[in-house]
Amino acid sequence: MKDTILKKFEEVFGDAQGAKAYFAPGRVNLIGEHTDYNGGHVFPCALTIGTYGVARKREDNRLRFYSMNFEGLGVLESSLEDLVPSEAARWTNYPKGVMWAFEQRGMKIPCGMDLLLNGNIPNGSGLSSSASVEVLTGFILRDFFGFDVTNQDLALIGQFSENQFNKVNCGIMDQFAIAMGKKDHAIFLDTADLSYEYAPITLEGAKIVIACSNKKRGLGDSKYNERRSECETALAELQQVVQIKGLGDLDEETFEKYSAHIGSEVRRRRAKHAVYENQRTVKAVDALKKGDITLFGQLMNASHVSLRDDYEVTGVELDTLVEEAWKVEGVIGSRMTGAGFGGCTVSIVKDEAIDTFIEQVGEAYEGKIGYAADFYVVEVGDGPSVLA
Ligand code: GLA
Repeated sequence: MKDTILKKFEEVFGDAQGAKAYFAPGRVNLIGEHTDYNGGHVFPCALTIGTYGVARKREDNRLRFYSMNFEGLGVLESSLEDLVPSEAARWTNYPKGVMWAFEQRGMKIPCGMDLLLNGNIPNGSGLSSSASVEVLTGFILRDFFGFDVTNQDLALIGQFSENQFNKVNCGIMDQFAIAMGKKDHAIFLDTADLSYEYAPITLEGAKIVIACSNKKRGLGDSKYNERRSECETALAELQQVVQIKGLGDLDEETFEKYSAHIGSEVRRRRAKHAVYENQRTVKAVDALKKGDITLFGQLMNASHVSLRDDYEVTGVELDTLVEEAWKVEGVIGSRMTGAGFGGCTVSIVKDEAIDTFIEQVGEAYEGKIGYAADFYVVEVGDGPSVLA
């Protein structure tokens, strides 16, 4: 990949002298969905697929961007004096947003750059292609200019840029999973205080399979922000009667005791998901530590049911992929992953069942939905890196 992107850089920007190549992963969340903005736990991991980039400092303040994923757009130009979001800037709003966020934090970027990207995460699939670009940009800025920031800071800066510059009210999970990724480990993160621990993903005789629904979604146009505010209102209602900082502070019993104080049935279901999903995540990590992969899979399945019925963020495409997956012998667990409304599912499938899984789920999906899904057998990889 390094050679391909360097060659393309040369083609697009004249030569590749002084240019450096980088990588930042995508992520998949195994369990703990829509809990990260509710002060709950998540359990994502970085993938070996992600965003490759080549960057080179410039002597002026210009910014020139090129993406091999959007070749039709050609070179998109901007400058460090123009770090404001715009529709015309298209995907470059992500790297520009991160540059803006560094400057907001008092880290002045001394010169412009040429940046070429090539991602092998399917766009808009819910595997965090945008967070990957954000962390990659922050990683390059640190490498170029020696800014004193940790990988965890890179995650927070990425999230800040997405919230404030790109106006998507996302939580911290995606950027954290990407910036802090560790090969063969998932990250058990408590979003209430950002404490975390790595848990080995040793799936003996099984693999993680991602099924992409090919129904495109963008967080901005989804009901993501609506769900967030439903949870915020439910939290405020509960705070009238019980002392909590977030829905993640409640266990199931305490929630049931006070849930009648939530003023609408819909909000009650939203909050119920946030509370139960958080508890499921804690139980799932515990099961994994004890080597009980069967229980882990059952909790994944229960997570999907809750996202479908109580949180209502699945849709016919994701439900079909998951419900068909459940029918295949050798599937340990299957659920939607990411924000929902489209994007991907994540399944843990026994090695000997993977071919049947892809064939059977693929056929049923295409038959019902009218277009094909894509399948990826993925590996858990490290965080961002310089390509040697
Ligand atoms: C998106 C957001 C995350 C998280 C998930 C849902 O991926 O970016 O912060 O809220 O949705 O779990």
